[in-house]
Amino acid sequence: MNKNRDGEAAHKDLNPDTRLTIGGRDPFAHHGYVNPPVYHASTLLYPTAEDFVARRGRYQYGRRGTPTSEALENAVRELEGPACAGVALLPSGLAAISVALLSVLRAGQHVLVTDSCYGPTRTFCDTVLTRYGIATTYYDPLIGGGISELMQPNTRAVFTEAPGSLSFEMQDIPAIAAAAHAKGALVLMDNTWASPLYFRAFDKGVDLSVQSGTKYIGGHSDVMLGTVSANTATWAALRETVGTMGLCVGPDDMFLGLRGLRTMGVRLARHQEAALAIARWLEMRPEVLRVLHPALPSHPGHPIWKRDFTGACGLFSIVLKPVPDKAVLAFLNTLTLFGIGASWGGYESLAIPFNCQKVRTATTWAPGGPTVRFHIGLEDVSDLTADLERGFAAMAAVK
Ligand SMILES: Cc1ncc(COP(=O)(O)O)c(C=O)c1O
Repeated sequence: MNKNRDGEAAHKDLNPDTRLTIGGRDPFAHHGYVNPPVYHASTLLYPTAEDFVARRGRYQYGRRGTPTSEALENAVRELEGPACAGVALLPSGLAAISVALLSVLRAGQHVLVTDSCYGPTRTFCDTVLTRYGIATTYYDPLIGGGISELMQPNTRAVFTEAPGSLSFEMQDIPAIAAAAHAKGALVLMDNTWASPLYFRAFDKGVDLSVQSGTKYIGGHSDVMLGTVSANTATWAALRETVGTMGLCVGPDDMFLGLRGLRTMGVRLARHQEAALAIARWLEMRPEVLRVLHPALPSHPGHPIWKRDFTGACGLFSIVLKPVPDKAVLAFLNTLTLFGIGASWGGYESLAIPFNCQKVRTATTWAPGGPTVRFHIGLEDVSDLTADLERGFAAMAAVK
């Protein structure tokens, strides 16, 4: 918040929860109101023809930015830390991923993408990138510094996601980044799970960090939004790509993002605490083979999580001991407090079955039993475990 105009520079010494509440705010530019107004804007009028010809003024056109978009961009930038040179807003998390990739890649180049990426990221690489002459190689998410061996002379970027979508492999981002940078490649990361609150992507060697704002930034399952944060090496190309492609976000969706962001710290802390309590409870259940949650000491990626992350969100998976598919469906259908739905990060709990086997090309997915992903919302933990207990009883009843 700029009480005096050099305020933002001073924010770098503040803690993330404080930066969440003041980032991107300038009340006295808006008559003292706490929040910026929501500008519904396309055309912008210039005082004179000379001003128009010279494109004089802070804003040029609705698509290119308004005080509303600027407030959200600045708030996310402050959260990312001082190494963030700029933030672009996109109409979904998937758009943020695809635009981040397009901004650094050109025909004839090669990109390395983790085999554990969010499914539609893979579809984008296999379709649009292929059409534009960019080759993708998928790699084992646990490869670490071994990524060096997969680098080709034309490898321009390495795409990471930690933990892996659905399967929760923990990637060694600093090791991958060191190896990629040594060979002149950039590092992109889908940082939706941890968010900049729990993983400081730029401090770990990432050059472009993506969030699906649809998840915890929005936080209420009522908005589609994406953000790409860039460092100084990538900001100019990102900005040019977004501007040239004419991408922008509707003002009400930006408002919802800005509104959600202010409470993201307290929500995430509560999601984390409840999810860990339920993950520990599930670890003790006789029906459960393994819990895939990197903050649990039993997770193979726990040492990396402990070294590089400062928290966890409400999303994790479990592997059940072998039971028929219809028993898993009975478990899910019996739950009343867990919705059956894909997009997580809202205040509500979710549970879905999944199977990564069909999409993997660099690794084999053989967890040893059926798998279910949970998002733990803001409900009372004991109500949720009671619901899960009823689900397990229904599962056991299926022969
Ligand atoms: C890890 C991850 N990244 C990106 C996305 C895409 O976000 P959006 O739904 O906003 O396009 C999702 C959506 O589920 C996701 O789980």
